[in-house]
Amino acid sequence: MAKLILQIFSISVLYSLVAFPATGEEDHIFGKSINDKSMRLKREKLSHFRFYWHDVLSGSKPTSMIIIPPPRNTTTGFGQMNMIDNALTLGPELSSKIVGRAQGFYAAASLNDVGLMMVMNFAFIEGKYNGSTFTILGRNPVFEKVREMAVIGGSGLFRFARGYVQASTHSLDFKTGDATVQYDAYVLHY
Ligand SMILES: *[C@@H]1O[C@H](CO)[C@@H](O)[C@H](O)[C@H]1NC(C)=O
Ligand SMILES: *[C@@H]1O[C@H](CO)[C@@H](O)[C@H](O)[C@H]1NC(C)=O
Repeated sequence: MAKLILQIFSISVLYSLVAFPATGEEDHIFGKSINDKSMRLKREKLSHFRFYWHDVLSGSKPTSMIIIPPPRNTTTGFGQMNMIDNALTLGPELSSKIVGRAQGFYAAASLNDVGLMMVMNFAFIEGKYNGSTFTILGRNPVFEKVREMAVIGGSGLFRFARGYVQASTHSLDFKTGDATVQYDAYVLHY
């Protein structure tokens, strides 16, 4: 028994020498709790944002492109995937002031209706929010009047963000697929 323990000990000593050859690995700390005061966080607040999301598939400068066509001929387009870099504007017109861009993708993830899975970073350029982002992940049944999706995090002024968005279609061109959608975002952040 003692011999076995000694053997295991010497193997593990040998292994640790091989795995961490004299780099002083013990000096590095992977995780520890810190005082939240050291982060200088302000009071958490709730903000509301309204802007319009433009999914432009037509014309010479589309911002939404099919990157994976539906693998089967279905009425719901199951499996289709679009990559987007869509303008977010203050008013419903595409020519209105741009406050940010929606970058990410959406995919037809519902077999029996048109239900998209949305994965987007909203990257803002407006005022003090310039450079800050928050991230949307959620289910978007596009023919429902109001669709709710989660805000799951963010960066800059939106660190620790959580909340939700409500999306409602402002206009939709069935011929081209171009759509303008009003987004109301309710975000808790510091
Ligand atoms: C897809 O299915 C529809 C309805 O069954 C049919 O009219 C159409 O030709 C099909 N398209 C392709 C590309 O198979
Ligand atoms: C946003 O910030 C970038 C980088 O600091 C700057 O170049 C740009 O002019 C700013 N945009 C606006 C609209 O303020």
